[in-house]
Amino acid sequence: MMNVHIIDHPLIQHKLTIMRRHDTSTRSFRQLVNEIAMLLCYEVTRDLPLTTEKIQTPMEEMDAPILSGKKLCFVSILRAGNGLLDGMLNLIPSARVGHVGLYRDHDTLQAVEYYYKVPSDINDRLVIAVDPMLATANSSIAAIQRLKDGGAEHIKFLCLLAAPEGVKAFNEAHPDVELYTAAVDRELNEQGYIMPGLGDAGDRIFGTK
Ligand code: URA
Repeated sequence: MMNVHIIDHPLIQHKLTIMRRHDTSTRSFRQLVNEIAMLLCYEVTRDLPLTTEKIQTPMEEMDAPILSGKKLCFVSILRAGNGLLDGMLNLIPSARVGHVGLYRDHDTLQAVEYYYKVPSDINDRLVIAVDPMLATANSSIAAIQRLKDGGAEHIKFLCLLAAPEGVKAFNEAHPDVELYTAAVDRELNEQGYIMPGLGDAGDRIFGTK
């Protein structure tokens, strides 16, 4: 059984369809990424542990639910991961934010790190790593490994769209990391794009095509 949660909420699916359309503008695409990121974040955090705290309402005292357990750290896998951060931070403004930047060496095909900055207490936090597209999963697998090497112990991974090949590779590399996505598409094409997909997520978020 694959360790993947497909978040098929109607609002998310509707927004994703508009994002997939080839003629959706940069402005709309960016707005939709924000909205969808907030909704996805809501689902990824559904199992956060709660405790209760005694509070005084204007009427009487009560034991009220409040988050307990690990604080959060969102980690953006550069560059497209940055597109998901704003929506998530709208929902959880106090979360810390880390960044991991990797590129693929043309000769060795290995992931090479060019940027890494995360909070020093990352081992004490629930890390939610984000990248909109899980295609081959090579960069996400390497980024998660880097986070583990840096001390992260509890990691979830959130994307917008995944390819079946990426889900399989990711699960094999990191079976302990729960994977959340809005959809798993048909396949990867020969250039490593998700089909039918939505094109290059970074280019569509930042308008760099
Ligand atoms: N990255 C993207 O932005 N799109 C894809 O389809 C695959 C990887």
